[in-house]
Amino acid sequence: MCGIVGYVGKDNAKDVIVDGLKRLEYRGYDSAGIALIVDGELFTYKRQGKIRELEIELRRKPVYSNIGIGHTRWATHGKPDDINAHPHVDCSGKIALVHNGIIENYAELRRELLQKGHRFTSQTDTEVIVHLIEEELKNSSIFFKAFLRAVKKLHGSYALAVITLYQPDTIFVARKDSPLVIGLGDGENFVASDVPAFLSYTNRVIFLDDFELATVKSSGIFVFNFDGEEVEKKVVTIPWSLSQAEKAGYKHFMLKEINEQPRAVADTISGNLSWFREETELEGIDPFGFNRIQIVACGTSYHAGLIAKFYLENFVRIPVEVDYASEYRYRDPIVDEKTLVISITQSGETADTLAAMRLAKSKGARLLTVCNVIGSTATREADTVIYTYAGPEISVASTKAFTTQLTALFLFSLWIARERGTMKNEKIEGYLKHLLEVPSRIEAFLSLEREKGAVKQIALEFYRAKDALYLGRNVNYPIALEGALKLKEISYIHAEGYPAGEMKHGPIALIDEKVPVVFVATKGKVLDKVVSNIEEVKARKGRVIAVTNPGIKKVKELAEFIIEVPEVDEYLSPIVNVVPLQLFAYYIADFLGYDVDQPRNLAKSVTVE
Ligand code: G6P
Repeated sequence: MCGIVGYVGKDNAKDVIVDGLKRLEYRGYDSAGIALIVDGELFTYKRQGKIRELEIELRRKPVYSNIGIGHTRWATHGKPDDINAHPHVDCSGKIALVHNGIIENYAELRRELLQKGHRFTSQTDTEVIVHLIEEELKNSSIFFKAFLRAVKKLHGSYALAVITLYQPDTIFVARKDSPLVIGLGDGENFVASDVPAFLSYTNRVIFLDDFELATVKSSGIFVFNFDGEEVEKKVVTIPWSLSQAEKAGYKHFMLKEINEQPRAVADTISGNLSWFREETELEGIDPFGFNRIQIVACGTSYHAGLIAKFYLENFVRIPVEVDYASEYRYRDPIVDEKTLVISITQSGETADTLAAMRLAKSKGARLLTVCNVIGSTATREADTVIYTYAGPEISVASTKAFTTQLTALFLFSLWIARERGTMKNEKIEGYLKHLLEVPSRIEAFLSLEREKGAVKQIALEFYRAKDALYLGRNVNYPIALEGALKLKEISYIHAEGYPAGEMKHGPIALIDEKVPVVFVATKGKVLDKVVSNIEEVKARKGRVIAVTNPGIKKVKELAEFIIEVPEVDEYLSPIVNVVPLQLFAYYIADFLGYDVDQPRNLAKSVTVE
């Protein structure tokens, strides 16, 4: 989705902003632009395509400025071209603005502004905002007041950053339903839609809340509510380092993040052990305070939710529903104060997930969020937060966020089981022991893969496939879904995930001698059933790739290709089994020459509904 970066301070704003925009590239975009104030003049540069196009333009007309704003646009209203790219400028050429989100009442506003004589150049919803500010300046010569009055007229979602010749030392920002964070430097300050944009300069941040505005100067920051009253804000230190947000020698972020999983899972266990061990409290949650659980999430996080249902229902014997967040709101869910709603979100900013949380809250539910980003909107709106400690996930295709979500949800399920007495203590300790072994099991698989490259070889065999089928059962059925999603997302190969037992009711018709059929066939209570399903595919000449454990002879005899992963407890097996499927998708996309980290049409953090 769109990215915002702003800078005011002693350095060359252009360099800081371009650097920040590059660090936000992972969010997905189709044009980029920047506005700078130089000696009392406003300059804007906008280019369709990648940031390097913008850099070429900037090199042609070098300027030095201490204040500016930049943007990467992911088109919603109006095609991705130079004109629709942000920043947008008012008629007088004195105000420049960048925007993330969608202005729902832009058509009416545009009509009114046209009648008042404003001239529009783009097809975007965003452009109305800058003209609206210009219009409001007719009523007040104080820029902040005009900005506030304009912002209050907007319906929809927005993170805004504005610079103006009327007050050339200040960046004006505002937020509603779209993330905006201010970075605090020494004699310089930053604004961005996401922390990695300025992580090389500072990790001290202020998260703007909905219905807040701020004035950002090099000398200080003031935050206000929509009544124009000053608000005190907490400064948060983000424990991420820049090196975590860089490729560290890997060809792609995705490959780096796949390889980081042993560390990320281990950190997620240790980061959550204190409440699990009850040395600290898991705030905001009464383990007896609910009799039903609903899980809401999108994309990969949704698949983590499907697996968490197994954990919670089996360990706690409590009914669990899992919903796509985008569907939840429209199905009129039965929610009350005895409902615990768990949102799972890497970014904590996914609009559909936030909307589902808000609906549940309005009906009295308690909210727990499992989230990777400290201070994100989900963490601020939930009653209880369980963090995953994946570190920044840059690749659009989610990997380490998923395995750490499963880790956190597994721990939470065990904790509730202990609190409610639905599982014996020895059993809980046994599970914990197994969980603690998971990082080394993933590492064992990854290091063997680095040495022998089995998955890479199989990817080489299949990278020209047009379709793929992923099959699994029980707790590994969602892993089939996740494997298929990974392949679709980055290699653009049509892939379907299915419960293996359901294959005979439809997908079996797809099987021929070309279609790769990936089975998750590791030890567990459904293994024999999965083996029968492999037989069914073999009988139809399907090409079977099986993710399995060492020593399972019947799978080895049947499958054409074998990927061996170390054995772990069945409930924990999804955390290990997904790793080869992530790598399989990665290598196929790489062999096809696709932009693995920024797949077409996708965004890392989907902040529009
Ligand atoms: C986008 C990303 C997916 C992600 C989903 C949910 O679609 O491309 O990788 O799984 O959003 O994101 P969240 O941050 O809420 O987990």
